[in-house]
Amino acid sequence: MKIVVLAGGTSPERDVSLSTGKMIYKALKNKGHQTILLDVYLGYEGDTSNLFDIEKDWAEGIGNIGTYNPDIKEIKALRKGNPDHFFGPGVLEICDMADIVFLALHGENGEDGRIQAAFDLMGIKYTGTDYASSTIAMDKAVSKELFTYYNIPSPKGIYVRKGEEYTWDSFPCVVKVNNGGSSVGVSIVHSADEMDAAIDNALSYGDQLIIEQYIKGREFSVGVIDGKALPVIEIAPISGFYDYKNKYQAGNAIETCPADLDEAISKQMQDFAVMVFKALRLKTYARMDFLLNDKNEIYCLEANTLPGMTPTSLLPQEAKAIGIDFEDLCELIIDISLK
Ligand code: DAL
Ligand code: MG
Repeated sequence: MKIVVLAGGTSPERDVSLSTGKMIYKALKNKGHQTILLDVYLGYEGDTSNLFDIEKDWAEGIGNIGTYNPDIKEIKALRKGNPDHFFGPGVLEICDMADIVFLALHGENGEDGRIQAAFDLMGIKYTGTDYASSTIAMDKAVSKELFTYYNIPSPKGIYVRKGEEYTWDSFPCVVKVNNGGSSVGVSIVHSADEMDAAIDNALSYGDQLIIEQYIKGREFSVGVIDGKALPVIEIAPISGFYDYKNKYQAGNAIETCPADLDEAISKQMQDFAVMVFKALRLKTYARMDFLLNDKNEIYCLEANTLPGMTPTSLLPQEAKAIGIDFEDLCELIIDISLK
């Protein structure tokens, strides 16, 4: 198969996406597919010469990776000045020549349904869920309302737009970017006087946020593939919560799969994961994040429609626990997406 792996992008999760993309690229190449890895963003600022040489890219099996500015804020600033330039030159044309585009993007533009909608309009096939469900799942406040509607427990919370008045007086609480990922811009707030700083921090990544009840407890995640739950994984950060640093620095968290949980609780969490998959109209695959408090009450935090995909990421570890290795998982995602 001819496969384009799209990675990079302009969201604060850009570097995570590049790791995901490189791993998927390697896996698909090992499986014998004609694969190229394209950095969505790079074509805009960087050297575009080989992006335009499509034949050479296919022949060499690599599009354009490598040099990027790891300074997240700078990338955001560049994009603000040029909001129409999410795609580097040539990216769409290359995607249009593929049998399928494997989306390895995280966050804004890549995970929020916009790229999916563009591909739908161009008749380009891609992995994962469709544009509408991507948009719903990316919006933590809308997801929460659907969880409530479908009786899926979730921390109580409110949605606030930049500059809007709000009332919140229960502490500790958590302030999150409404459309963010990887815990970027997330703060745990212990008292009212810490609130302004937490809100300013979240607003530096987007103009909408949620404030929600802080749940003290253990952290878990459950992947769902084609409507079926994978085994539950527990993530125990060595210190603090599962924030950006603990997610991506090796050795900062202990991950156990299958999680050491009472069978009934583990089954309940898997059932909630499947309910979320249905409630948010998801397709192909996703990963749902949960908390469990000391009264064994489960809370769903969110669904991730383009979860991290390196061999040591959570969903691949869950797949491995039932005998699906990383390379097979990448092919399985393609097969389900093309169904
Ligand atoms: N947002 C990150 C990549 C994840 O959910 O795995
Ligand atoms: Mg997330």
